[in-house]
Amino acid sequence: MKGQQRSPQRRSSAEFPTGFLWGVAAASYQVEGAVNEDGRGQSIWDTFARTPGKVRHGHTGDTSVDQYHRYPEDVTLMRELGVSAYRYSIAWPRVQPDGSGIFNPKGFDYYKRLSDELHRQNIKSVATLYHWDLPQALEDAGGWPQRDTAYRFAEYAAGCFAELGDHVDMWTTLNEPWCSAVLGYDLGEHAPGHTSKSKGWAAGHHLMLGRGVAVQAYRALTGTATAEQAGARVVAPIGITHNLETPRPATRHPEDIAAADRAADMRTRFFLDPMLGRPYPQRHFAAYPEEMPPPVLDGDMETIATPIDFLGLNYYFEPVVVTAPEYPEGFRAVNSYHETTDMGWPVTPLGLSRHLRWVWNHIDGRYPLYITENGCAMPDELTPDGLRCHDPGRVRYLRDHFSAALDAVEEGVDLRGYFVWSLIDNFEWSLGYTKRFGIVYADYVNQRRVPKDSYYYLREVISGTEDL
Ligand code: FCB
Repeated sequence: MKGQQRSPQRRSSAEFPTGFLWGVAAASYQVEGAVNEDGRGQSIWDTFARTPGKVRHGHTGDTSVDQYHRYPEDVTLMRELGVSAYRYSIAWPRVQPDGSGIFNPKGFDYYKRLSDELHRQNIKSVATLYHWDLPQALEDAGGWPQRDTAYRFAEYAAGCFAELGDHVDMWTTLNEPWCSAVLGYDLGEHAPGHTSKSKGWAAGHHLMLGRGVAVQAYRALTGTATAEQAGARVVAPIGITHNLETPRPATRHPEDIAAADRAADMRTRFFLDPMLGRPYPQRHFAAYPEEMPPPVLDGDMETIATPIDFLGLNYYFEPVVVTAPEYPEGFRAVNSYHETTDMGWPVTPLGLSRHLRWVWNHIDGRYPLYITENGCAMPDELTPDGLRCHDPGRVRYLRDHFSAALDAVEEGVDLRGYFVWSLIDNFEWSLGYTKRFGIVYADYVNQRRVPKDSYYYLREVISGTEDL
Protein backbone atom coordinates (compact mmCIF):
# COMPACT_ATOMS: atom_id res chain seq x y z
CA MET A 1 0.00 0.00 0.00
CA LYS A 2 2.67 2.36 1.06
CA GLY A 3 4.59 1.87 -2.18
CA GLN A 4 1.55 3.03 -4.11
CA GLN A 5 1.31 6.22 -2.10
CA ARG A 6 4.87 7.23 -2.86
CA SER A 7 6.24 8.76 -5.97
CA PRO A 8 6.91 6.08 -8.55
CA GLN A 9 10.58 7.07 -8.95
CA ARG A 10 13.26 4.58 -8.20
CA ARG A 11 14.51 4.78 -4.62
CA SER A 12 17.79 3.12 -3.80
CA SER A 13 20.29 3.03 -0.98
CA ALA A 14 22.34 5.57 -2.95
CA GLU A 15 19.86 8.20 -1.77
CA PHE A 16 21.01 7.85 1.81
CA PRO A 17 23.73 10.34 2.75
CA THR A 18 27.33 9.71 1.68
CA GLY A 19 29.11 7.45 4.12
CA PHE A 20 25.83 5.99 5.40
CA LEU A 21 26.72 3.04 7.61
CA TRP A 22 24.94 -0.20 6.80
CA GLY A 23 25.39 -2.78 9.50
CA VAL A 24 24.06 -5.78 11.34
CA ALA A 25 23.72 -6.13 15.11
CA ALA A 26 23.85 -8.78 17.81
CA ALA A 27 24.63 -9.03 21.53
CA SER A 28 27.04 -11.11 23.59
CA TYR A 29 24.71 -13.36 25.57
CA GLN A 30 22.47 -13.86 22.56
CA VAL A 31 25.16 -15.24 20.22
CA GLU A 32 28.47 -16.01 21.91
CA GLY A 33 27.87 -19.24 23.85
CA ALA A 34 31.11 -20.43 25.53
CA VAL A 35 29.81 -19.23 28.88
CA ASN A 36 32.38 -21.15 30.88
CA GLU A 37 35.45 -20.50 28.75
CA ASP A 38 38.60 -18.49 29.28
CA GLY A 39 37.68 -17.26 32.72
CA ARG A 40 34.28 -15.73 31.96
CA GLY A 41 32.30 -15.03 35.14
CA GLN A 42 28.58 -15.54 35.59
CA SER A 43 26.04 -12.95 34.58
CA ILE A 44 22.47 -12.32 35.67
CA TRP A 45 21.31 -13.94 32.43
CA ASP A 46 23.12 -17.21 33.25
CA THR A 47 21.28 -17.24 36.57
CA PHE A 48 17.92 -16.16 35.16
CA ALA A 49 18.01 -18.67 32.31
CA ARG A 50 18.72 -21.49 34.78
CA THR A 51 15.80 -20.49 37.00
CA PRO A 52 12.87 -22.75 36.09
CA GLY A 53 10.00 -20.96 34.39
CA LYS A 54 11.90 -17.80 33.42
CA VAL A 55 12.93 -18.66 29.85
CA ARG A 56 10.74 -20.58 27.45
CA HIS A 57 11.58 -24.31 27.31
CA GLY A 58 14.40 -23.72 29.79
CA HIS A 59 16.63 -22.47 26.96
CA THR A 60 19.95 -20.83 27.90
CA GLY A 61 22.72 -18.95 26.10
CA ASP A 62 25.24 -21.67 27.00
CA THR A 63 25.95 -22.53 23.36
CA SER A 64 23.66 -20.39 21.22
CA VAL A 65 25.23 -19.97 17.75
CA ASP A 66 28.71 -20.35 19.24
CA GLN A 67 29.98 -17.07 17.82
CA TYR A 68 32.80 -17.14 20.36
CA HIS A 69 34.40 -19.85 18.21
CA ARG A 70 32.71 -19.27 14.88
CA TYR A 71 33.18 -15.52 14.53
CA PRO A 72 35.44 -15.82 11.43
CA GLU A 73 32.62 -17.52 9.55
CA ASP A 74 30.12 -14.90 10.72
CA VAL A 75 32.41 -12.04 9.73
CA THR A 76 32.80 -13.62 6.30
CA LEU A 77 29.01 -13.71 6.01
CA MET A 78 29.02 -10.00 6.85
CA ARG A 79 31.63 -9.18 4.23
CA GLU A 80 29.73 -11.13 1.58
CA LEU A 81 26.63 -9.23 2.64
CA GLY A 82 28.46 -5.96 2.05
CA VAL A 83 27.83 -4.30 5.41
CA SER A 84 30.36 -1.80 6.65
CA ALA A 85 29.78 -2.28 10.40
CA TYR A 86 29.08 -4.95 13.00
CA ARG A 87 27.40 -3.86 16.23
CA TYR A 88 28.21 -6.47 18.89
CA SER A 89 28.39 -6.20 22.66
CA ILE A 90 31.15 -6.87 25.13
CA ALA A 91 30.21 -9.35 27.85
CA TRP A 92 31.12 -7.59 31.09
CA PRO A 93 31.66 -10.90 32.96
CA ARG A 94 34.08 -12.02 30.25
CA VAL A 95 36.43 -9.09 30.74
CA GLN A 96 35.80 -8.44 34.46
CA PRO A 97 34.39 -11.67 35.87
CA ASP A 98 33.23 -10.29 39.22
CA GLY A 99 32.20 -6.86 37.97
CA SER A 100 34.89 -5.03 39.91
CA GLY A 101 38.64 -5.19 40.43
CA ILE A 102 40.64 -7.63 38.34
CA PHE A 103 40.24 -7.67 34.57
CA ASN A 104 40.57 -10.87 32.54
CA PRO A 105 43.04 -10.49 29.63
CA LYS A 106 41.63 -13.57 27.89
CA GLY A 107 38.23 -11.90 27.78
CA PHE A 108 39.70 -8.80 26.13
CA ASP A 109 41.58 -11.06 23.70
CA TYR A 110 38.33 -12.35 22.27
CA TYR A 111 37.10 -8.84 21.40
CA LYS A 112 40.53 -8.00 19.94
CA ARG A 113 40.40 -11.11 17.75
CA LEU A 114 36.85 -10.28 16.69
CA SER A 115 37.76 -6.66 15.86
CA ASP A 116 40.91 -7.72 14.00
CA GLU A 117 38.87 -10.11 11.89
CA LEU A 118 36.28 -7.40 11.22
CA HIS A 119 38.99 -4.97 10.15
CA ARG A 120 40.68 -7.61 8.02
CA GLN A 121 37.39 -7.97 6.17
CA ASN A 122 36.93 -4.19 6.01
CA ILE A 123 34.11 -3.91 8.55
CA LYS A 124 33.91 -1.41 11.41
CA SER A 125 33.90 -2.67 14.96
CA VAL A 126 30.96 -1.09 16.84
CA ALA A 127 31.00 -2.13 20.48
CA THR A 128 28.20 -1.86 23.04
CA LEU A 129 29.48 -1.95 26.60
CA TYR A 130 26.31 -3.17 28.25
CA HIS A 131 23.71 -5.29 26.53
CA TRP A 132 22.21 -6.65 29.73
CA ASP A 133 24.75 -9.17 31.07
CA LEU A 134 25.50 -7.69 34.49
CA PRO A 135 28.06 -9.75 36.44
CA GLN A 136 26.14 -11.85 38.97
CA ALA A 137 28.46 -10.69 41.78
CA LEU A 138 27.20 -7.12 41.30
CA GLU A 139 23.59 -8.26 41.36
CA ASP A 140 24.33 -10.13 44.60
CA ALA A 141 25.46 -6.77 46.00
CA GLY A 142 22.14 -5.13 45.00
CA GLY A 143 22.46 -4.67 41.23
CA TRP A 144 21.44 -1.52 39.37
CA PRO A 145 19.17 -0.18 42.14
CA GLN A 146 22.43 0.26 44.10
CA ARG A 147 24.28 3.48 43.35
CA ASP A 148 27.65 1.74 43.50
CA THR A 149 26.81 -0.26 40.36
CA ALA A 150 26.96 2.98 38.35
CA TYR A 151 30.59 3.44 39.41
CA ARG A 152 31.39 -0.21 38.81
CA PHE A 153 30.07 0.24 35.27
CA ALA A 154 32.26 3.30 34.74
CA GLU A 155 35.30 1.36 36.00
CA TYR A 156 34.54 -1.53 33.66
CA ALA A 157 33.99 0.91 30.78
CA ALA A 158 37.32 2.63 31.48
CA GLY A 159 39.03 -0.79 31.37
CA CYS A 160 37.47 -1.44 27.97
CA PHE A 161 38.48 2.00 26.64
CA ALA A 162 42.07 1.39 27.73
CA GLU A 163 42.33 -2.19 26.42
CA LEU A 164 40.16 -2.02 23.32
CA GLY A 165 40.46 1.65 22.37
CA ASP A 166 42.69 0.80 19.41
CA HIS A 167 40.25 -1.81 18.16
CA VAL A 168 36.85 -0.18 18.40
CA ASP A 169 35.55 2.32 15.81
CA MET A 170 32.39 3.39 17.63
CA TRP A 171 31.27 2.94 21.23
CA THR A 172 27.80 2.56 22.65
CA THR A 173 27.54 2.67 26.42
CA LEU A 174 24.16 1.05 27.12
CA ASN A 175 21.67 -0.87 25.06
CA GLU A 176 18.06 0.02 25.92
CA PRO A 177 18.37 1.04 29.56
CA TRP A 178 14.54 1.04 29.75
CA CYS A 179 14.64 -2.76 29.37
CA SER A 180 17.39 -3.22 31.97
CA ALA A 181 15.51 -1.04 34.45
CA VAL A 182 11.85 -1.79 33.83
CA LEU A 183 11.84 -5.33 32.43
CA GLY A 184 14.61 -6.34 34.83
CA TYR A 185 13.62 -4.69 38.11
CA ASP A 186 9.98 -3.61 37.80
CA LEU A 187 8.14 -6.10 35.59
CA GLY A 188 10.44 -9.05 36.27
CA GLU A 189 10.32 -10.31 32.69
CA HIS A 190 14.07 -10.08 32.21
CA ALA A 191 17.04 -10.84 34.46
CA PRO A 192 17.34 -10.39 37.37
CA GLY A 193 13.55 -10.70 37.56
CA HIS A 194 12.59 -8.27 40.34
CA THR A 195 9.14 -6.72 40.60
CA SER A 196 9.45 -3.35 42.32
CA LYS A 197 8.65 -0.04 40.63
CA SER A 198 10.94 1.87 42.96
CA LYS A 199 13.81 -0.51 42.19
CA GLY A 200 13.04 -0.06 38.51
CA TRP A 201 13.36 3.74 38.55
CA ALA A 202 16.40 3.62 40.83
CA ALA A 203 17.98 1.19 38.36
CA GLY A 204 17.08 3.54 35.49
CA HIS A 205 18.76 6.46 37.22
CA HIS A 206 21.91 4.52 38.04
CA LEU A 207 22.18 3.17 34.51
CA MET A 208 21.99 6.70 33.13
CA LEU A 209 24.39 7.99 35.76
CA GLY A 210 26.90 5.18 35.19
CA ARG A 211 27.03 5.88 31.50
CA GLY A 212 27.52 9.60 32.20
CA VAL A 213 30.53 8.81 34.38
CA ALA A 214 31.78 6.40 31.71
CA VAL A 215 31.57 9.07 29.00
CA GLN A 216 33.51 11.45 31.25
CA ALA A 217 36.19 8.79 31.69
CA TYR A 218 36.31 8.38 27.93
CA ARG A 219 36.71 12.11 27.36
CA ALA A 220 39.50 12.24 29.94
CA LEU A 221 41.30 9.40 28.19
CA THR A 222 40.93 10.80 24.68
CA GLY A 223 41.53 14.38 25.76
CA THR A 224 38.57 15.83 23.83
CA ALA A 225 35.05 16.89 24.76
CA THR A 226 33.51 15.38 21.63
CA ALA A 227 34.78 13.05 18.93
CA GLU A 228 34.41 15.85 16.37
CA GLN A 229 36.78 18.11 18.27
CA ALA A 230 39.60 15.64 17.76
CA GLY A 231 40.11 17.04 14.25
CA ALA A 232 42.67 15.03 12.31
CA ARG A 233 43.20 12.67 15.24
CA VAL A 234 40.74 9.82 14.96
CA VAL A 235 38.70 9.39 18.10
CA ALA A 236 35.94 6.81 18.01
CA PRO A 237 32.55 8.45 18.67
CA ILE A 238 30.65 7.42 21.77
CA GLY A 239 26.88 7.32 22.15
CA ILE A 240 23.99 5.36 23.59
CA THR A 241 21.25 3.12 22.23
CA HIS A 242 17.71 3.74 23.41
CA ASN A 243 14.41 2.03 22.68
CA LEU A 244 12.27 5.12 22.96
CA GLU A 245 8.63 5.08 22.02
CA THR A 246 6.52 7.82 20.51
CA PRO A 247 3.06 6.24 20.61
CA ARG A 248 0.38 7.20 18.11
CA PRO A 249 -3.00 8.33 19.43
CA ALA A 250 -5.71 5.91 18.25
CA THR A 251 -7.99 8.80 17.26
CA ARG A 252 -7.76 12.54 16.76
CA HIS A 253 -9.69 13.23 19.93
CA PRO A 254 -7.75 15.65 22.09
CA GLU A 255 -7.95 13.16 25.02
CA ASP A 256 -6.22 10.48 23.00
CA ILE A 257 -3.62 12.94 21.74
CA ALA A 258 -2.92 13.96 25.34
CA ALA A 259 -2.76 10.27 26.33
CA ALA A 260 -0.13 9.61 23.66
CA ASP A 261 1.91 12.50 24.99
CA ARG A 262 1.73 11.11 28.54
CA ALA A 263 2.69 7.67 27.26
CA ALA A 264 6.02 9.12 26.13
CA ASP A 265 6.93 10.23 29.66
CA MET A 266 8.44 7.16 31.24
CA ARG A 267 9.44 5.23 28.18
CA THR A 268 11.00 8.15 26.34
CA ARG A 269 11.43 11.38 28.29
CA PHE A 270 12.77 9.63 31.40
CA PHE A 271 15.66 8.20 29.36
CA LEU A 272 16.18 11.07 26.94
CA ASP A 273 15.52 14.36 28.73
CA PRO A 274 18.23 14.22 31.42
CA MET A 275 20.78 13.54 28.67
CA LEU A 276 19.72 16.89 27.22
CA GLY A 277 20.04 18.74 30.52
CA ARG A 278 16.30 18.56 31.26
CA PRO A 279 14.72 17.16 34.45
CA TYR A 280 13.05 13.77 34.78
CA PRO A 281 9.36 13.93 33.79
CA GLN A 282 7.33 14.53 36.93
CA ARG A 283 3.78 13.59 35.90
CA HIS A 284 4.32 9.88 36.51
CA PHE A 285 5.53 10.26 40.07
CA ALA A 286 2.63 12.60 40.80
CA ALA A 287 0.27 9.87 39.54
CA TYR A 288 1.93 7.21 41.73
CA PRO A 289 2.60 8.90 45.07
CA GLU A 290 3.57 5.58 46.66
CA GLU A 291 6.39 5.14 44.16
CA MET A 292 9.82 6.43 45.01
CA PRO A 293 11.17 8.79 42.37
CA PRO A 294 14.78 8.09 41.42
CA PRO A 295 17.37 8.82 44.10
CA VAL A 296 19.07 11.83 42.49
CA LEU A 297 22.08 13.28 44.32
CA ASP A 298 23.70 16.67 43.73
CA GLY A 299 25.59 16.71 40.48
CA ASP A 300 23.92 13.60 39.01
CA MET A 301 21.87 15.47 36.44
CA GLU A 302 24.96 17.34 35.19
CA THR A 303 26.83 14.04 34.87
CA ILE A 304 23.97 12.47 32.93
CA ALA A 305 23.96 15.48 30.61
CA THR A 306 27.61 14.95 29.61
CA PRO A 307 27.61 15.43 25.82
CA ILE A 308 27.77 12.38 23.58
CA ASP A 309 28.53 12.05 19.88
CA PHE A 310 25.46 10.25 18.53
CA LEU A 311 22.13 8.82 19.57
CA GLY A 312 21.25 5.24 18.63
CA LEU A 313 17.61 4.23 18.30
CA ASN A 314 16.21 0.72 18.25
CA TYR A 315 12.86 0.56 16.50
CA TYR A 316 10.54 -2.41 16.10
CA PHE A 317 6.99 -1.02 16.04
CA GLU A 318 4.86 1.97 16.94
CA PRO A 319 2.38 1.45 19.76
CA VAL A 320 -1.10 2.93 19.67
CA VAL A 321 -2.73 4.34 22.81
CA VAL A 322 -6.07 5.73 23.95
CA THR A 323 -7.05 7.76 26.95
CA ALA A 324 -7.86 5.60 29.99
CA PRO A 325 -8.86 7.71 32.98
CA GLU A 326 -9.28 4.50 35.03
CA TYR A 327 -5.46 4.16 35.13
CA PRO A 328 -3.37 6.60 37.17
CA GLU A 329 -1.10 7.29 34.19
CA GLY A 330 -4.20 8.01 32.09
CA PHE A 331 -3.57 5.91 28.98
CA ARG A 332 -3.54 2.33 27.76
CA ALA A 333 -2.21 0.59 24.68
CA VAL A 334 -4.64 -0.84 22.14
CA ASN A 335 -4.18 -3.28 19.29
CA SER A 336 -3.64 -1.72 15.92
CA TYR A 337 -5.11 -3.00 12.67
CA HIS A 338 -1.70 -3.88 11.23
CA GLU A 339 -0.45 -7.34 10.41
CA THR A 340 1.88 -8.69 13.09
CA THR A 341 5.23 -10.45 13.20
CA ASP A 342 6.00 -13.68 15.03
CA MET A 343 6.45 -11.58 18.20
CA GLY A 344 2.87 -10.34 17.83
CA TRP A 345 4.29 -6.88 17.13
CA PRO A 346 2.46 -4.80 14.52
CA VAL A 347 4.28 -3.92 11.31
CA THR A 348 4.34 -0.11 11.34
CA PRO A 349 6.96 1.32 8.99
CA LEU A 350 5.34 4.76 8.86
CA GLY A 351 5.84 4.88 12.61
CA LEU A 352 9.59 4.78 12.00
CA SER A 353 9.57 8.05 10.05
CA ARG A 354 7.32 9.62 12.67
CA HIS A 355 9.62 8.36 15.43
CA LEU A 356 12.77 9.68 13.78
CA ARG A 357 11.16 13.07 13.20
CA TRP A 358 9.84 13.23 16.78
CA VAL A 359 13.21 12.40 18.32
CA TRP A 360 15.08 14.71 15.97
CA ASN A 361 12.80 17.62 16.91
CA HIS A 362 12.82 16.73 20.59
CA ILE A 363 16.61 16.81 20.77
CA ASP A 364 16.71 20.01 18.68
CA GLY A 365 18.97 18.27 16.21
CA ARG A 366 21.71 18.07 18.80
CA TYR A 367 23.01 14.60 17.93
CA PRO A 368 23.17 12.63 14.69
CA LEU A 369 20.97 9.54 14.78
CA TYR A 370 21.63 5.89 13.96
CA ILE A 371 19.08 3.13 13.80
CA THR A 372 21.03 0.66 15.90
CA GLU A 373 18.41 -2.10 15.63
CA ASN A 374 15.48 -2.82 13.36
CA GLY A 375 14.16 -6.15 12.16
CA CYS A 376 11.49 -8.74 12.80
CA ALA A 377 10.89 -12.30 13.94
CA MET A 378 9.17 -14.56 11.45
CA PRO A 379 8.35 -18.28 11.61
CA ASP A 380 11.21 -19.15 9.25
CA GLU A 381 11.85 -22.65 7.95
CA LEU A 382 14.46 -24.10 5.64
CA THR A 383 13.41 -25.44 2.25
CA PRO A 384 13.25 -29.27 2.14
CA ASP A 385 16.74 -29.42 0.59
CA GLY A 386 18.03 -27.35 3.49
CA LEU A 387 19.68 -24.82 1.21
CA ARG A 388 17.39 -21.80 1.32
CA CYS A 389 15.03 -20.02 3.64
CA HIS A 390 12.28 -17.96 2.05
CA ASP A 391 11.26 -15.09 4.32
CA PRO A 392 9.18 -12.75 2.14
CA GLY A 393 7.60 -11.14 5.21
CA ARG A 394 11.01 -9.97 6.44
CA VAL A 395 12.02 -8.71 2.98
CA ARG A 396 8.84 -6.64 2.93
CA TYR A 397 9.36 -5.47 6.50
CA LEU A 398 12.91 -4.33 5.80
CA ARG A 399 12.09 -2.69 2.49
CA ASP A 400 9.25 -0.65 4.01
CA HIS A 401 11.35 0.39 7.02
CA PHE A 402 14.35 1.39 4.86
CA SER A 403 12.01 3.47 2.80
CA ALA A 404 10.44 5.07 5.89
CA ALA A 405 13.93 5.93 7.15
CA LEU A 406 14.70 7.54 3.81
CA ASP A 407 11.50 9.59 4.11
CA ALA A 408 12.83 10.99 7.39
CA VAL A 409 16.23 11.71 5.83
CA GLU A 410 14.54 13.58 3.01
CA GLU A 411 12.72 15.65 5.61
CA GLY A 412 15.99 16.72 7.17
CA VAL A 413 16.69 14.15 9.90
CA ASP A 414 20.44 13.56 10.21
CA LEU A 415 20.39 9.75 10.09
CA ARG A 416 23.85 8.28 9.56
CA GLY A 417 23.41 4.52 9.67
CA TYR A 418 21.13 1.51 9.89
CA PHE A 419 21.84 -1.76 11.68
CA VAL A 420 19.58 -4.70 10.96
CA TRP A 421 18.73 -6.91 13.91
CA SER A 422 20.05 -9.49 13.54
CA LEU A 423 22.77 -11.10 11.45
CA ILE A 424 21.76 -14.54 12.62
CA ASP A 425 18.95 -16.19 14.62
CA ASN A 426 19.81 -16.18 18.31
CA PHE A 427 18.70 -16.42 21.94
CA GLU A 428 15.74 -14.07 22.20
CA TRP A 429 15.89 -13.48 25.98
CA SER A 430 12.88 -14.88 27.86
CA LEU A 431 11.60 -16.42 24.62
CA GLY A 432 14.73 -18.52 24.17
CA TYR A 433 15.30 -19.85 20.66
CA THR A 434 11.61 -19.77 19.73
CA LYS A 435 11.85 -16.47 17.82
CA ARG A 436 14.00 -16.06 14.74
CA PHE A 437 15.19 -12.52 14.04
CA GLY A 438 18.15 -13.38 11.78
CA ILE A 439 18.70 -12.66 8.13
CA VAL A 440 20.78 -15.82 8.36
CA TYR A 441 19.07 -19.00 9.55
CA ALA A 442 20.76 -20.82 12.43
CA ASP A 443 20.48 -24.58 12.61
CA TYR A 444 20.98 -24.98 16.35
CA VAL A 445 21.67 -28.73 15.99
CA ASN A 446 24.70 -28.58 13.73
CA GLN A 447 25.53 -24.84 13.80
CA ARG A 448 25.02 -24.55 10.05
CA ARG A 449 24.30 -21.01 8.86
CA VAL A 450 21.94 -20.58 5.90
CA PRO A 451 21.43 -17.07 4.49
CA LYS A 452 17.72 -16.28 4.16
CA ASP A 453 16.21 -14.46 1.18
CA SER A 454 16.30 -11.25 3.27
CA TYR A 455 20.11 -11.58 3.45
CA TYR A 456 20.30 -11.60 -0.36
CA TYR A 457 17.79 -8.75 -0.52
CA LEU A 458 19.85 -6.63 1.90
CA ARG A 459 23.00 -7.41 -0.09
CA GLU A 460 21.40 -6.02 -3.23
CA VAL A 461 20.07 -2.97 -1.39
CA ILE A 462 23.51 -2.15 -0.03
CA SER A 463 25.17 -2.60 -3.39
CA GLY A 464 22.47 -0.46 -4.99
CA THR A 465 21.25 -3.11 -7.42
CA GLU A 466 17.88 -3.50 -5.69
CA ASP A 467 15.37 -0.74 -5.03
CA LEU A 468 14.02 -0.07 -1.58
C1 FCB B 1 15.78 -5.55 21.51
C2 FCB B 1 17.08 -6.04 22.10
C3 FCB B 1 17.75 -7.09 21.28
C4 FCB B 1 16.78 -8.06 20.65
C5 FCB B 1 15.67 -7.33 19.98
C6 FCB B 1 14.66 -8.23 19.29
O1 FCB B 1 14.98 -5.03 22.51
O2 FCB B 1 17.97 -4.97 22.26
O3 FCB B 1 18.70 -7.72 22.09
O4 FCB B 1 16.34 -8.97 21.58
O5 FCB B 1 14.99 -6.51 20.88
